[in-house]
Formats: sequence, structure tokens, C-alpha cells
Amino acid sequence: TTIEWDAEAAEKAGFEHFMLKEIYEQPTVLQHTLGGRFAGNGTDVQLELGLDPLAVDRVVISACGTAFYSGLVGEYLIERLARLPVEVEIASEFRYREPVLDERTLCVVVSQSGETIDTLEALREAKRQGARTLAVLNAKGSSISREADDVLYIHAGPEIGVASTKAYTAMVAAFELLAIFLGRARGVLSGEAAAELIRALRALPGLVEETLGARPEIAAVAEAFKDKRDYLFLGRGANYPTALEGALKLKEISYIHAEAYATGEMKHGPIALIDADMPVVAVATASALYDKTISNLQEVRARDGVVIALASRGDEAIRAHADHVIYVPRTLELVSPIVNVVALQLLAYETAARLGRDVDQPRNLAKSVTVE
Ligand code: G6P
Repeated sequence: TTIEWDAEAAEKAGFEHFMLKEIYEQPTVLQHTLGGRFAGNGTDVQLELGLDPLAVDRVVISACGTAFYSGLVGEYLIERLARLPVEVEIASEFRYREPVLDERTLCVVVSQSGETIDTLEALREAKRQGARTLAVLNAKGSSISREADDVLYIHAGPEIGVASTKAYTAMVAAFELLAIFLGRARGVLSGEAAAELIRALRALPGLVEETLGARPEIAAVAEAFKDKRDYLFLGRGANYPTALEGALKLKEISYIHAEAYATGEMKHGPIALIDADMPVVAVATASALYDKTISNLQEVRARDGVVIALASRGDEAIRAHADHVIYVPRTLELVSPIVNVVALQLLAYETAARLGRDVDQPRNLAKSVTVE
């Protein structure tokens, strides 16, 4: 009825879709995720966990969908900052694999809803084997929250759009906190290095706000390529998961086939697909391996490929290697996945909206999958 429609319109706060509203909520959400969690004069992270960081030799992260990709960023962060070995596994595989775990393994499950059956069962398997468990969650009072030893809430607020956006960036922010926490507690991350990261995290809400400002340029790219059948996304290091998540968003809501590869892997297969009909979105923001990424872009263009580069503001040189450049604000490489993914969320949104797709409720997908 009209009344219900009006109520829904009010909940969307003037945005055309819940997904767009949730994309725009991210600066505020990040304040909530990070708020009150810094200590020691900006050199430490304080998380109310029962976990003893010195009783952990290894971390195993398990999740589904978007939450799984946040875990891949988590792997990168925890290995770099806490020097703990990390494995990440899709929950539906992990739960049936008879994984090798013990009481010195920290099993981290990640879930927006806290109700995904595969993730819940992965947690139960970890507990059966005596591992220590930690759940990174959004929804309060969920099944997973009741069974995990520790819960780290991301405080993203209710997410209505089936395609996850603000929960993803908040999950990655939670992994930034966890990695700094573990690194500091284990004595492998200096106060100075932690302070630099924490300064970058504090700047995040502003940087994400700035990234939202790139929407017109992103919309122009969406318009130019909305009728393509396939897209390739490339990224490396902490931004390999950004490429995976960018491709997933595009698939989920626009139904365009999109694949993501680690940039350095392109030459081992996907390069065979490159032609003028398959746009290549490359995360090419400032990083230690920037120069290598540029040579990969040259390889794409040498094969008539079309390059859409995500670049750090001020990088004029990249224009020579890309057909379209989307500029995002500069930040530390380890923090950049949170900024960069916002541009890819908007690319998926602008594409799907132009194709007239049901953005908030894409076909065949459910917000949370509680049966196998
Ligand atoms: C479903 C949703 C995905 C989500 C995944 C995991 O498949 O469509 O968007 O990433 O479940 O959900 P969770 O609530 O566990 O994060």
C-alpha cells in the first residue's frame, strides 16, 4: 500500500535505495567502529576481549561472502602487524574439512548477521577442537554471539541492502584494530608504528567522505561500460581483496560477470581474455608495488584492453597508462582497502541503477543464509 511505501521512503532518508544510503553512512559507521577503541596516547588499541594474545600461535579466519573478503584483508593486516601466521577459509569448506586446530589457534569468524549457518558451524567445529574463538559481528544477540568466546562488534547498524557495503568497511576496520591490538600485545609493533596507523584510521571518516565525492566520475565510467558483459578487477597485497569485493558487488547487483585476480597473476591466465570488450578495473593506489602494477596496466593496454584505474589523488603519471582514472584520497597502504572499496561500491551501484536492476533485492540472493 501507499502507506508502506511512504514508510520505506522515509527509512531511506531521501536516497533512492538502501544500498546507496548505506554507502553514504560509511563515514559515520567508521566513527562508531573505531570510536573509543584507541588508548595509550594514540599508540594502542583497547578491545574488551578475554583473549590472551600471548596464548595464540596461529590465526584461522572463516566466513562467507563479503565477510570472507574482509577476512582476507585481516590476514594481510595480522601477518604484517602481529607477525602471526594466518589462514582464511570459506566457512562452508572449513566446517567439513577436519581442519587441524588446537588450543593455541585463534579461530575468528566474521559475520554481519551472526546467523549464517556455515559460519556458525565453522565456529562450532573450532570449539569442538578446543580452539579459542572470536566473532567479528554486526547484529547484536545473534546465534554466533552466544557461542563465541569473544565478540568484537563492528557497530555498523542495521544493513538492509542485500549487497553488503557498510558492514564490509566496518569489518575491515575491526581487523585493523585487532591486528594493532595483537601486534602491540605481542611486542612486535612499535608504539610509533601503531601511532602512524592509528592516525590514518582516525582520518578515515574524512577520507571516505572525500571518496564519495568521486561519484560523478564513477557514474561516468558506469555509463560508459554498463552494457559490457564481462569485467576484470585487479588488485594486489591488501587490495587484492578489494578487487574481489569490487567484482562481487558488480556481479551481485548488476548481473554483469566480473572476475578478480591478483594483479601479478594476470599473466598466468586471465590475460588471454583481454580485449576492447572487457573493461579492466585496476586498484593502482599508492603502494610498495605501484611500479609493478603500472607494468601490468601496460600489458593490458598493449592487448587493446581498456583500463579503469583507481589511483591516489595527485598521481598524474597514471593518466598515461589508463583510459579512465578515478581518484581517491591518499592514505597508508594498509588502510587503503577501506577507502578504495567505497569507489568500487559506487561503481557497482551506478552500473546496476542504470541497468534498472533491483539494487536492494537482487535476484536469487538472500541477506542472510541460515540453511544449507
Ligand atoms: C549472504 C549475503 C552476503 C553475505 C553473506 C555472509 O550470502 O547475500 O552479502 O556476505 O551471506 O553473511 P554474513 O551475515 O555472515 O556476513
